[in-house]
Amino acid sequence: MTNGALLVLGSANRDYTVVIERHPMPGETVLGGEAVVGTGGKGSNQAVAAARAGAKPIFLAAVGADSTGADILRDLDSFGVDTSRVERVAHATGIALITVSHSGENSIVVAAGANQALEAAPIASVVSELAGPGVVLLAQLEIPVAVVDAAASVISAAGGRFVLNLSPFTTVPPRMLALADPLVVNETEASELSNSIIDSIADAQVVAGRLLERSRSVVLTLGGDGTVIADSSGVVHLHARRVEVIDTTGAGDAFAGALAAALAAGATLRDAVEKGLDAGAEAVQHLGAQPSL
Ligand code: RIB
Repeated sequence: MTNGALLVLGSANRDYTVVIERHPMPGETVLGGEAVVGTGGKGSNQAVAAARAGAKPIFLAAVGADSTGADILRDLDSFGVDTSRVERVAHATGIALITVSHSGENSIVVAAGANQALEAAPIASVVSELAGPGVVLLAQLEIPVAVVDAAASVISAAGGRFVLNLSPFTTVPPRMLALADPLVVNETEASELSNSIIDSIADAQVVAGRLLERSRSVVLTLGGDGTVIADSSGVVHLHARRVEVIDTTGAGDAFAGALAAALAAGATLRDAVEKGLDAGAEAVQHLGAQPSL
């Protein structure tokens, strides 16, 4: 595979989003407002963000052999994502039920379906075919951890770069964390991983520094408060652009996808984070995880 190639390994979902006044309490029904049905899943959102940032990402994923799977692949193709390696499996395509409050905060429940059908050996074999020096592999955790673990080993052994978005948070093998360059986490994920509380940018800088003992580099995102980077040259905080927030769904994915696209194109980590911040700021300004085609 050529220098600068980007592989995105992860989930694809059909997202059902409803705007609500406030999130329901357990046992309560609330009436919502506007509803949108769109393509989502952290992997697919990141692949789309990478394509919009100028990469031609190869998406490694599984969708059902159903009409929803076909619709998702068509959407991704239209954005310029290479879907030729996406598996069609005998499970329903993943779905996500999302509520978004007027302040832009979301709640998401995912039924993983086809995403959980991905297996380590076939993915390791595809990654080994495509891997090489300069190739970047970006992954998140809505698919089995064993699949990401295998892919991380293969890309790293081939001299490529492994970017891990530890989202949604789950326990992962320390060897996989150790290969991440960078490990991309939000405040909640960083708190869970480090067992610490993050109440301020100063706290985030301390936690990012600690997480650097477990990964090659760390990017800790703080929403509207920007991002902290920790790598061998130190710990820095970069500010985010202030924008009107409509829906935060997929903003972290847009950040990670644009960041990985920039790294694949040869950018420094700091410059790649700047690209991620721009993509995240743009993503919160529309309803749904991906922009309209
Ligand atoms: O990160 C946002 C994504 O999380 C949504 O698109 C939804 O599908 C869930 O995977």
